[in-house]
Amino acid sequence: SDDVAAPGGGGGGGGDLITVGFAQTGAESGWRSANTESMNEAFSEENGFELVFNSADNDPAAQIAAVRSFINQGVDAIVIAPIVEDGWDDVLQEAQDAEIPVILEDRTVSASEDLYASWVGLDFELEGQMAGEWAAEQFTEPTNMVVLEGTTGSAPANDRAAGFDAAIEGTPIEKIDSQSGDFTRDGGKSVMEGFLQKHGADGIDLVYAHNDDMGLGAIEAIEAAGAVPGEDIKIITIDAVRDGMQALVDGKINYIVECNPLLGDAAAELVKAVLNGEEVAKTTIVEDQAFDQAAAEAALPDRTY
Ligand code: AHR
Repeated sequence: SDDVAAPGGGGGGGGDLITVGFAQTGAESGWRSANTESMNEAFSEENGFELVFNSADNDPAAQIAAVRSFINQGVDAIVIAPIVEDGWDDVLQEAQDAEIPVILEDRTVSASEDLYASWVGLDFELEGQMAGEWAAEQFTEPTNMVVLEGTTGSAPANDRAAGFDAAIEGTPIEKIDSQSGDFTRDGGKSVMEGFLQKHGADGIDLVYAHNDDMGLGAIEAIEAAGAVPGEDIKIITIDAVRDGMQALVDGKINYIVECNPLLGDAAAELVKAVLNGEEVAKTTIVEDQAFDQAAAEAALPDRTY
């Protein structure tokens, strides 16, 4: 069932190096910085690669244009961390017509699986489910929850919402508001400011943020409103980057589900295997953990990102 894309036509100009165009989403979060670093390390010259890096600043049209430019440059392979799920059919077809294999990393797309060679990423729905199961256990009295959503149309925003919502079904947790903070700290802060104005700090018991950065922005807004994050208003986030884990240790965040950003080595191995004509798995899921305060205290000293 696994269709392996044909090896690329070469001509990337990197000598013996494999030329790879990498279309990154942007630099929206601490998670993203760690992911970019992991990719840069794995796709190093030492490992036989010449990496052509593009950061699209979370603009889906700019990201598609970057992929098109990689095709025109004749790179050997293309790696994409797709900002949104939809809209990929045409450009993926163009890459396939040019016999340039595409590997997806981190997020996935809604286009046909036949249009890309492989995807290495995370089970975002399970992440949402793990967060929701913890909330369902903790909140047994009527609870007003607000949600800070990730980038609209992105796989993690869609799937983390679905997984969480399913897990809290039938519980006394009520979602009273939900809005995108675009996975950024500033976005999380300003959306939370709006929620606090609208509902009052007393009217909000729980924040579910689709990533640490938005949760960290929400902490600033809650403190500015004179309430205590982690106590007056509980916070659940996803990612488990250092800043988030520190806030969990400090008691300002209550629970974090991990999203592993260290996908570079797996992506690089997939690129080499596909270019060698080897059969590769269509999907590789990297496992995530979850952290309460004690687990965060134990893990923080070894957290490198
Ligand atoms: O796609 C993974 C998500 O993107 C991370 O949770 C978030 O921090 C990043 O911006």
